[in-house]
Amino acid sequence: MARTPISFTLNGSTADLFVEGGENLLDALRRGLGDLTPKYGCGQGACGTCTVLIDGRPQLSCLTLAEAVAGRSVETAASLAEGPDLHPLQDAFMEGFAAQCGYCTPGMLMAAKALLAENPTPTREEVAEGIAGNICRCTGYEPIIDAILAAAERMRGRAA
Ligand code: FES
Ligand code: FES
Repeated sequence: MARTPISFTLNGSTADLFVEGGENLLDALRRGLGDLTPKYGCGQGACGTCTVLIDGRPQLSCLTLAEAVAGRSVETAASLAEGPDLHPLQDAFMEGFAAQCGYCTPGMLMAAKALLAENPTPTREEVAEGIAGNICRCTGYEPIIDAILAAAERMRGRAA
């Protein structure tokens, strides 16, 4: 099958690779580029664990053609920590026991990052709405919502 060269920005660096016709972004990231943070859950757009940011907006990488991100900016959960310093969302998830098995966590973190970029002072309901496309089978969601609210507060403090 013909392979197409594409180039895009992944977590701030240029990524160049060949993709198969019809290959989705999740496979390109995991198999092509070795970024294992976006997870394969359903492969059908129903679970959200493959969520990445494309030009800052949350998108399901399992439903995104890899070729469609040529020239665009993609962020995965691998971009969150800066060296040994975790992102405030990661700190809050860890401190609030918002990750149990952790399979949903990368997608939750990216959905939360996009939400807080757009709305730094979300209500509990807005957080719940922001992660409505992300399924968690372990936590019952409350610790995740608490963690996102705690991170929002911490990030507002840093920005002040
Ligand atoms: S793997 Fe993409 S939505 Fe489930
Ligand atoms: S922590 Fe297990 S699915 Fe969310």
